[in-house]
Amino acid sequence: GKVRAPTHIISTISDDRGEEPCYAGVPMSNIIERGYGVGDVISLLWFKRSLPRYCTQFIEICIMLCADHGPCVSGAHNTIVTARAGKDLVSSLVSGLLTIGPRFGGAIDDAARYFKDAYDRSLTPYEFVEGMKKKGIRVPGIGHRIKRGDNRDKRVELLQKFARTHFPSVKYMEYAVQVETYTLSKANNLVLNVDGAIGSLFLDLLAGSGMFSKQEIDEIVEIGYLNGLFVLARSIGLIGHTFDQKRLKQPLYRHPWEDVLYTK
Ligand code: ACO
Ligand code: LMR
Repeated sequence: GKVRAPTHIISTISDDRGEEPCYAGVPMSNIIERGYGVGDVISLLWFKRSLPRYCTQFIEICIMLCADHGPCVSGAHNTIVTARAGKDLVSSLVSGLLTIGPRFGGAIDDAARYFKDAYDRSLTPYEFVEGMKKKGIRVPGIGHRIKRGDNRDKRVELLQKFARTHFPSVKYMEYAVQVETYTLSKANNLVLNVDGAIGSLFLDLLAGSGMFSKQEIDEIVEIGYLNGLFVLARSIGLIGHTFDQKRLKQPLYRHPWEDVLYTK
């Protein structure tokens, strides 16, 4: 029989050995001929399967909506300062990406984890939010620096509208909205933010599409695939900010003394 030498690497998502590269077994020519988009490529390379059109469209909408949020947010600020320090594209990009985390853009996975756990255990929004408070954990996916109950995040509305029209079920999203109704009754800045909207809606995508087993959904949530959407999306904007600063020939940034409280 065949004797197979042990390998040092196992890879299951792509293959470059044939005439053309394949993503999850689908040859590149099929991807192009069938008019696949970036949502389909993400489905193949991240989830190792082709997803229905409404799912790939949802993924693409997430990417478009999260591509940028102006120059003042953590990521763009870091990228701008780095580009102005004369650093190259990759350095400027990663400097911005490194700010993505539990407070900024990287709360999607935790939002999915906590909303899923609370919904699956049939916790009321009150029990969920007050339970988190007792544990001293801020609810991921809730709260924003500038968005308010009376100045909602348009991106969240757009995602919800798309899902309500195209998803077979939006039970996790509806739960997140009930949580938001409760948190807004406590403080006006405790809106469902874009991380929370994507986290809850992705649970609906995974559960409602019929394309994933319960075990696979648990694994996706546990490993934490979903912050990848924000990282990928925001890279588009951060690259744009790098080019912008270089095009404008902006000098080295130095923060003004007046804006620092020097104290002992
Ligand atoms: N859950 C519960 N209570 C909260 C939350 C939350 N998610 N956010 C704020 N609060 C309450 C707390 O009582 C907080 O007081 P504390 O500092 O004693 O905990 C009070 O509101 C005021 O909080 P601030 O720090 O002034 O709020 P800020 O505007 O600075 O925070 C932030 C905004 C960082 C987004 C915060 O709401 C948070 O940590 N949310 C959870 C993480 C998250 O979802 N991040 C993604 C944001 S969207 C994006 O980045 C694309
Ligand atoms: C973003 O998308 O960068 C934001 O929601 C964060 C912010 O502070 O606006």
